[in-house]
Amino acid sequence: MTAPSTYDDNEIVNASSNLHMDALIATRLSRRQALKGGMSVTAAALLGSVSLSACGGSDDAATADGLQLSFSAVAKNKNDLVTVPEGYQVSILHALGDPLQFGEESWKGDGSESAESYNRRIGDGHDGMYYFGLSDDGKFNAERSDRGLLAMNHEYVVAPYVLHPNGMTTGAARVPTEVEKEIYAHGVSVVEVKRSSGNDMAMVRGSRFNRRITSATEIAFAGPVQGHALVRTKFSPDGLKTRGTNNNCANGYTPWGTYLTCEENWLNVVSRAAGDDAKRSAKEVVALKRYGLPENRKSPYLWDTAGSDDLFARWTSSVTGASANDDYRNTANTFGWVVEIDPFNPTSTPAKRSALGRFNHEGAWPAPAVAGQPIVIYMGDDARNEYIYKFVSKALWNPQDVNGGMAVGAKYLDEGTLYVAKFNADGSGQWLELSYGKNGLDASNAAYPFVDQGDVVTHARLAADKVGATKMDRPEWGAVHPRNGEVYMTLTNNSNRVDPSATPTGSQLKPDAANPRYYSDNYTNNDGSSKSNKGNPNGHIIRWHENGSNGAATAFAWDIYLFAAQADAAGDVNLSGLSAVNDFSSPDGLYFDPRGLLWIQTDDGAYTDVTNCMMLAAVPGQVGDGGAVTAAGGTATRKGANASPDNLRRFLVGPKQCEITGVAVTPDGKTLFFNVQHPGEESSLSNLGSHWPASQTNPAATQRPRSATVVVTRTDGGAIGL
Ligand code: FEO
Ligand code: CA
Ligand code: CA
Ligand code: CA
Repeated sequence: MTAPSTYDDNEIVNASSNLHMDALIATRLSRRQALKGGMSVTAAALLGSVSLSACGGSDDAATADGLQLSFSAVAKNKNDLVTVPEGYQVSILHALGDPLQFGEESWKGDGSESAESYNRRIGDGHDGMYYFGLSDDGKFNAERSDRGLLAMNHEYVVAPYVLHPNGMTTGAARVPTEVEKEIYAHGVSVVEVKRSSGNDMAMVRGSRFNRRITSATEIAFAGPVQGHALVRTKFSPDGLKTRGTNNNCANGYTPWGTYLTCEENWLNVVSRAAGDDAKRSAKEVVALKRYGLPENRKSPYLWDTAGSDDLFARWTSSVTGASANDDYRNTANTFGWVVEIDPFNPTSTPAKRSALGRFNHEGAWPAPAVAGQPIVIYMGDDARNEYIYKFVSKALWNPQDVNGGMAVGAKYLDEGTLYVAKFNADGSGQWLELSYGKNGLDASNAAYPFVDQGDVVTHARLAADKVGATKMDRPEWGAVHPRNGEVYMTLTNNSNRVDPSATPTGSQLKPDAANPRYYSDNYTNNDGSSKSNKGNPNGHIIRWHENGSNGAATAFAWDIYLFAAQADAAGDVNLSGLSAVNDFSSPDGLYFDPRGLLWIQTDDGAYTDVTNCMMLAAVPGQVGDGGAVTAAGGTATRKGANASPDNLRRFLVGPKQCEITGVAVTPDGKTLFFNVQHPGEESSLSNLGSHWPASQTNPAATQRPRSATVVVTRTDGGAIGL
């Protein structure tokens, strides 16, 4: 078998092609970027901090929103460190394998921890997260900054060089104990956090709130698929429950104090047998293919090969029994959902909120709740050429529902309307309704005849195809501006955009106004050779304003807030005027903190010949504050106001071969959490590409790298970023 050398976060699935694994982008590290500023280890090194001030950005710059960025931009670099601005310090909150409870050994770094113990250890692949203030009586308190619950996604496991003693064992079948450990190292963690010294935070080991939810945890189905034939399995013949949440990428939260975790690249662990098509209806074959699961498809992690035990056998979505009640043919339909978790009730059963649709959910971002108005949640499907969605609840928000837990979740999230976005060339847009019986979503749809709303939400991609939604450049995170309600969403990159003068083949697409650029970006490999990334290699951030500033509106106006690019790129590529203090590539994470500061994170493979991934702070303006422009390749579009050091600055750079993802800020703005995912991503056990977090304090560290949560504070106790 072939061990997954790295997690595939870049899969393509669309109406016209099967799953296609992108060639791994070689991010070599030979060319060390000269640092423009001096590196200084400050007194904060006690907390493992290295400050690097560099390349300008005035200290106090007024912005449109009345917010002033007040830190010196960090220079691009390729150090095996988190680099923060001068006057800031970092500490590690928790990393893969750290015990949540007493009685467990500390992580040793040799893969010797038992599989079972991962039910009580921090999982791998830290990703989306949310900080919930915790009151002294154990309830959600949105104002509390010194004590809280941190809910965290563990997206995937870095099995080849972190989790197991000798990496992933190769052979025809996976080793059961290794797969078991991987199953328990996925999912979500909830931990209590408390301020320790100053505004720094520490995990409260042994807290009654500390909890792991894994790929084996029992989870209820809620909404239109509850009890539906599409989710019946041997484990739950009545279709009321399933096991596990998987490949939890980004997240969301609700105003009543629950966490939303979103299932993205579940195809990494779900296989399908050869010859399975012949055992399926034509309709099932269409649906499985649209979701990237053709027959004879082996998942990269091959969990289904570890034995006949139900823990493993269920990871192939294949017909093996007489009916769906006897096998796991419907496993595929049990993933790709938004899952609600009540972090304040450690014994509550999470729920898959199916009304929000099934696709490669990156995350689920709520608009600020308004009393008497519906709950509105924005979502993206992260695969090339996929769509942007929103959910509008039927129930209207009642602030008295705060702290109502899963019952309140059922009230707002199990009934409502799902929409998909269409972006028009003139800067307008529509939300197209995905309701059974409307817009041709019924048995008359020749490509895929729908039978009911459970069928529509399970196959939201097929419904979105039917209504004519706009295919986007890989929707990643969204964020809603807390003051003007405008919605921002990262479109991380898309190698499938082709020259507008060419004839697209297969899954290729010509640029359009909302995904306008086509160009080549050069990349220097480790051996000094060069390659060229074509399409939209650096990505962009789109934003929209709902008509009437009403989240439930069915029309909107949009522009492109920022085009990511190298500062030295051509003018029709670097359309936002990025400079050395704020150039970046492949935006992924995105978050408005409680003060209205926007944080932008990167998961990049196009600029990593120059810099590790990063996080920037921004004070954005509003839709329409820029103007018309023609993008590289010749497509007309509309952009926001140009970037400047005053409204966009690089706040930190991560260690080698990592992704920066997940960010949360306490209500007082004085403690910031972010995640370093997969440092040393291209490693093998014999050639580790990073030793972070150990390398943060010890340049000679030799430990295995691991994903971790970093706490950032200011040495003077002030507010972060401002
Ligand atoms: Fe898991 Fe789309 O990033
Ligand atoms: Ca380049
Ligand atoms: Ca992501
Ligand atoms: Ca990544």
